Amino acid sequence: MSRDNPIFLRKSSVNFNSDSLSKAEIESIVKASMWAPSSRNGQPWRIIGITKDSDKFTKIISCLSSGNQIWAKNSGLVLIFSTKKIEDEFNPKTFLDIGFSGQNAMIEATKLGLETHPIGGWDEESVRSVAKIPQESKVAFILIVGKPGKESEISEELINSHEKTRERNAVSEHFNYDQWGEKF
Ligand SMILES: Cc1cc2nc3c(=O)[nH]c(=O)nc-3n(C[C@H](O)[C@H](O)[C@H](O)COP(=O)(O)O)c2cc1C
Repeated sequence: MSRDNPIFLRKSSVNFNSDSLSKAEIESIVKASMWAPSSRNGQPWRIIGITKDSDKFTKIISCLSSGNQIWAKNSGLVLIFSTKKIEDEFNPKTFLDIGFSGQNAMIEATKLGLETHPIGGWDEESVRSVAKIPQESKVAFILIVGKPGKESEISEELINSHEKTRERNAVSEHFNYDQWGEKF
């Protein structure tokens, strides 16, 4: 696959500038999210967007784990991917569906020339309180989105700590033909 493919261009960035995203950009990302496949087309996601211009922005940033706040505060948009209300027993496929939805969001944002970073570290009750998420819903993950910043404006330590993680194992470690453990 070519290197200009958004699958390869996407990365978990810590480098945002504080410009706001346009409504068209936000809606394009949300629409891409909603076109993800889902079990029985249940579309179990509820996505809440908090933009830089909202008075909830600093509040939602403060709900993130401290390491995430350092770079997320410079972004333009926080997308909270949660489930719709779960009335019955929680079906793990729901989080799988929401994961597909989130990947669509990241690919679309990358195509738009934006930076993204998915995060799993937040204080659940605080996020619920800021975004008014009902108890019958679960937060699946949070996606930080923004315009690309200048590398010269962030600390070398932050860049290095995140660049290190941009590796992948050999295909043979994760894929076999026919059965588990067979060589690739
Ligand atoms: C569910 C999930 C949770 C994550 N949580 C965090 C997080 O809390 N903080 C962080 O810096 N990165 C987080 N990441 C980003 C991963 O560290 C990153 O995807 C991985 O290192 C691969 O790097 P890449 O996204 O640049 O390819 C998370 C990613 C996923 C999918």
